[in-house]
Amino acid sequence: MKISIITLFPQVFDPILNSSILKRAQQKGMVKFELINLRDFGEGKHKVVDDRVYGGGAGMVLRADILAKALKKGKGERGKGKVILTSASGKPYKQSDAQRLSKIEHLIIVCGHYEGVDQRFIDEYVDLEISIGDYVLTGGEIPAMVIVDSVVRLIPGVLEKEEATQNESFSNFKFQIPNYKLLEHPQYTRPEIFEGKKVPAILLSGNHQKIAKWRKEQAIKKTKKVRPDLL
Ligand SMILES: C[S@@+](CC[C@H](N)C(=O)[O-])C[C@H]1O[C@@H](n2cnc3c(N)ncnc32)[C@H](O)[C@@H]1O
Repeated sequence: MKISIITLFPQVFDPILNSSILKRAQQKGMVKFELINLRDFGEGKHKVVDDRVYGGGAGMVLRADILAKALKKGKGERGKGKVILTSASGKPYKQSDAQRLSKIEHLIIVCGHYEGVDQRFIDEYVDLEISIGDYVLTGGEIPAMVIVDSVVRLIPGVLEKEEATQNESFSNFKFQIPNYKLLEHPQYTRPEIFEGKKVPAILLSGNHQKIAKWRKEQAIKKTKKVRPDLL
């Protein structure tokens, strides 16, 4: 898989792309990242990429023509790739989106900034607008990192135990009720007693059937409490 990222701040990606799972995925040859600096396509001495809003209003908007030039670079000679725009007004991002995107050969993620992006660029070139939540961030870099991280860990072979991604919150796994996405059950590790609190005895019983039943009950309980909308 290849992921191209169009951004005004390519440097902020380095520590994330070169740590942990994302670093290992690159080393294994399973993903290739390309950072495209939007500023390189800016105009004039100051490499301007934005302008004032038509119709009046505060802030600046990223220019469609500048974005289109950067996108041409991202699409390369084959002129292909699924174009995602990070946008507070986009479709709320879900684990099921990450699953779908993890099967695509080339993703191109455009990071917005300032007040956003000229609508004509969106209409002409963007396949999917993604919002990572109902709040407004300064730029699309953090949302792009969220998308990249959630997608890459789902590429088969990236995680050593693929089962890990099937048993997580929002993913269907063996004890889930069909068509419902549960949150994950609570997890424990050593020490067995922490500040007077013991690990639930069932987890030390060695009875895998009972443990699976307990985990399912706990997952339902947590989902009911914090995300009843999922049920
Ligand atoms: C300050 S925001 C622009 C907000 C825009 N004026 C609005 O009201 O929807 C600048 C950029 O940050 C990114 N951004 C902000 N919040 C986001 C969110 N919740 N999800 C995805 N991207 C977001 C987008 O790329 C956006 O173009």
